[in-house]
Amino acid sequence: MSPWIANLTSLTILQLSNSGLSGSIPSSVGGLKKLKELTLSNSKFYGNIPSSISNLTQLSTLNLQSNNFSGTVQLSLFMGLPNLSILSLSNNNLSVVDGEDITWSPVHTRIKSLGLVSCGMEKLPKLLRYLGRSRTNWLDISQNRIRGAIPQWAWENWSGSHFHYLNLSHNYFTGFVGLETSLPFSIDRFDLSSNMFQGPIPLPQNLSQGALELDYSSNMFSSIALHSSTKISIFKASRNNLSGSVLASFCGVNNLEILDLSYNNLTGPIPSCLMEGTNELRVINLKKNRLHGELPHNINESCSLEVLDFGDNDIKGKLPRSLAACSELAVFDIQNNQISDSFPCWMSTLGRLYVLVLKSNEFFGQVGPSAEDKNSCEFPRIMILDLASNNFSGTLTEEWLANLTFMMGEAGALALPALTTQSYSDETRIYEVTNELTYKGSDLTMETVFRVLWFLDVSNNDLQGSIPAAIGELVELNSLNMSHNYLTGPIPKLGNLKWLEALDLSSNELSGEIPRELASLDFLTTLNLSDNKLVGSIPESPHFMTFSNSSFLGNSGLCGTPLSNQCMINRTMQSAVPYHSKKNPVDVMLFLFSGIGFGVGFAIAVVVAWGIPIRKRS
Ligand SMILES: *[C@@H]1O[C@H](CO)[C@@H](O)[C@H](O)[C@H]1NC(C)=O
Ligand SMILES: *[C@@H]1O[C@H](CO)[C@@H](O)[C@H](O)[C@H]1NC(C)=O
Ligand SMILES: *[C@@H]1O[C@H](CO)[C@@H](O)[C@H](O)[C@H]1NC(C)=O
Ligand SMILES: *[C@@H]1O[C@H](CO)[C@@H](O)[C@H](O)[C@H]1NC(C)=O
Ligand SMILES: *[C@@H]1O[C@H](CO)[C@@H](O)[C@H](O)[C@H]1NC(C)=O
Ligand SMILES: *[C@@H]1O[C@H](CO)[C@@H](O)[C@H](O)[C@H]1NC(C)=O
Ligand SMILES: *[C@@H]1O[C@H](CO)[C@@H](O)[C@H](O)[C@H]1NC(C)=O
Ligand SMILES: *[C@@H]1O[C@H](CO)[C@@H](O)[C@H](O)[C@H]1NC(C)=O
Ligand SMILES: *[C@@H]1O[C@H](CO)[C@@H](O)[C@H](O)[C@H]1NC(C)=O
Ligand SMILES: *[C@@H]1O[C@H](CO)[C@@H](O)[C@H](O)[C@H]1NC(C)=O
Ligand SMILES: *[C@@H]1O[C@H](CO)[C@@H](O)[C@H](O)[C@H]1NC(C)=O
Ligand SMILES: *[C@@H]1O[C@H](CO)[C@@H](O)[C@H](O)[C@H]1NC(C)=O
Repeated sequence: MSPWIANLTSLTILQLSNSGLSGSIPSSVGGLKKLKELTLSNSKFYGNIPSSISNLTQLSTLNLQSNNFSGTVQLSLFMGLPNLSILSLSNNNLSVVDGEDITWSPVHTRIKSLGLVSCGMEKLPKLLRYLGRSRTNWLDISQNRIRGAIPQWAWENWSGSHFHYLNLSHNYFTGFVGLETSLPFSIDRFDLSSNMFQGPIPLPQNLSQGALELDYSSNMFSSIALHSSTKISIFKASRNNLSGSVLASFCGVNNLEILDLSYNNLTGPIPSCLMEGTNELRVINLKKNRLHGELPHNINESCSLEVLDFGDNDIKGKLPRSLAACSELAVFDIQNNQISDSFPCWMSTLGRLYVLVLKSNEFFGQVGPSAEDKNSCEFPRIMILDLASNNFSGTLTEEWLANLTFMMGEAGALALPALTTQSYSDETRIYEVTNELTYKGSDLTMETVFRVLWFLDVSNNDLQGSIPAAIGELVELNSLNMSHNYLTGPIPKLGNLKWLEALDLSSNELSGEIPRELASLDFLTTLNLSDNKLVGSIPESPHFMTFSNSSFLGNSGLCGTPLSNQCMINRTMQSAVPYHSKKNPVDVMLFLFSGIGFGVGFAIAVVVAWGIPIRKRS
């Protein structure tokens, strides 16, 4: 920003956002006496914020967020700006403090929107107490280092007022002084996540008029008391210390679309009213609690569920067949429970099911349709199918695998509207789902990933017979695990699985030679063929050289590098495996890096259109 701009003394609005512009604010900016709005957001401005800004007495909007401004800013600088109503210094490299001990007074400020995200604050700014006087407050002080209980002076003047947005997340807050369970003000979107709050969850006032989003995740809250006839669209309290059977109290919440109480200490069965009622629930995440009993059985045909995660609980019994009514269901994860049921062919009717995780339960019988079952067993959209560690038996059939059409790339990766992130606006929210899968030999807890993963795991069951050739047509697969079964016969042709990164066929009874074309799978970084009955020489290729002998041990008939027994005979005939890589190795590295750096998982975007209109007040 050049100093000449200071000559534009009649300028009233200066907006340079998303501009890619760089430079610092000259102190001559104080000469723009008529300036009402100064917006320099999302650019590359740097340097100190000149104190001459306090001369811009007409200023009503000052938005400097998301730049690289540095230095210390004293909030008292803005005290003399009587018309200032929007102030944002968020996401810079600033250190924001109260400054000179001038007593703010209501006559000195009309600020109703204050953004101080990541401003290095260690204390609550005194300015907060005057916010509540406005009817449309907006406050974000997330990502600072503020500790302890929120003192009464900060919020007592907010009493009876209304916040559109109140974000106190990512600090070290422990509570509200002098408050039990109810806050004396109302809020549309409220975020207390990632703090150290304890005790009962504080709820905003007038929930019967509706709140859009309440996020209490990652604290140590131990209880919640919801009154009936509340309206909440999104409620999140994962990773707290909630215990007991509080779930039933969510049955009475109107408009509830997303409920996430994962990683708590909840007990009791899942109340039938939660799933059987006619409600608008789209996401229920109760992963990692201590829920027991059976799943509710009479799910209403008006079901609108899209994501169900009941993993890591003690749920018994069968899967409710009425779940077939939930035609929007995209993710169903019930890993690590005690479900005892046959393979859910009845889920074929769920045309949007992308993720089915049944691992570590007591499922039994044939994978796919049983002999007497004449119904179809297609999973036309499945991308992640995890059947590991159950009691499945029998053989995998060509017909059943041939109906996993999405894995065959027939629909094309472009047909994934629900899986891409949507633009972020005030009216839509995105809920990201992650599933814990065993990938490349280790259990990963996955963070948000914007990478799509194709995954098939039938390991640790009692499967017999040979591996159907149709597996070689599931060309999208990134990970294939069939280890720890009783599979026999040769390894089928897998040369078309060009995206395969992990292949585990270990601990079976596979025989024959290792197909040469495995050596030309560019992305294969994890290979386990150990403990089988494979024979012949290990293919030699630059790529195969990177696998250690543990990939091949326990096959007495195998020879060649990296095993210690060398092949005696006719090396020349077998060894020349051409390495057909057209990919340049740098591409491969980048691909793998993104795989490791971001973890492995699955992100699905559930876009929530707000069910309740935002209250407009003037
Ligand atoms: C700000 O105003 C004061 C007094 O009104 C004046 O002395 C000072 O020069 C001004 N600063 C700038 C940068 O305009
Ligand atoms: C504040 O704004 C009001 C109306 O927008 C205007 O009348 C008033 O003069 C402004 N006050 C100052 C000190 O600029
Ligand atoms: C921000 O400014 C500092 C100097 O204050 C500089 O070292 C740093 O590289 C800048 N960061 C960006 C992202 O421009
Ligand atoms: C913040 O500023 C300091 C110097 O003031 C600089 O060393 C650092 O790199 C900056 N941080 C960022 C993220 O730009
Ligand atoms: C609150 O702030 C954090 C960090 O700045 C952000 O990640 C989060 O999305 C915000 N919460 C809401 C409800 O917008
Ligand atoms: C609350 O606001 C009033 C003016 O509305 C002010 O006089 C008082 O000091 C404020 N209370 C606190 C504790 O700051
Ligand atoms: C809460 O509701 C009560 C009664 O319905 C009303 O008097 C009060 O103004 C409301 N408060 C807010 C902040 O909306
Ligand atoms: C978690 O809750 C239990 C009782 O439900 C309580 O004994 C324990 O102290 C709580 N832990 C924390 C850290 O609050
Ligand atoms: C869960 O609650 C039980 C008692 O209800 C308690 O013994 C246990 O420590 C709690 N677990 C955690 C992780 O808080
Ligand atoms: C589903 O809900 C509707 C409307 O409440 C009701 O009429 C119907 O009987 C319910 N169906 C079942 C199977 O409960
Ligand atoms: C596979 O799909 C075909 C039609 O697409 C259907 O006739 C057949 O029954 C399906 N097989 C299985 C095992 O579901
Ligand atoms: C090696 O291969 C040649 C021809 O391919 C064959 O004649 C010969 O018998 C083989 N040697 C052994 C030891 O098998």
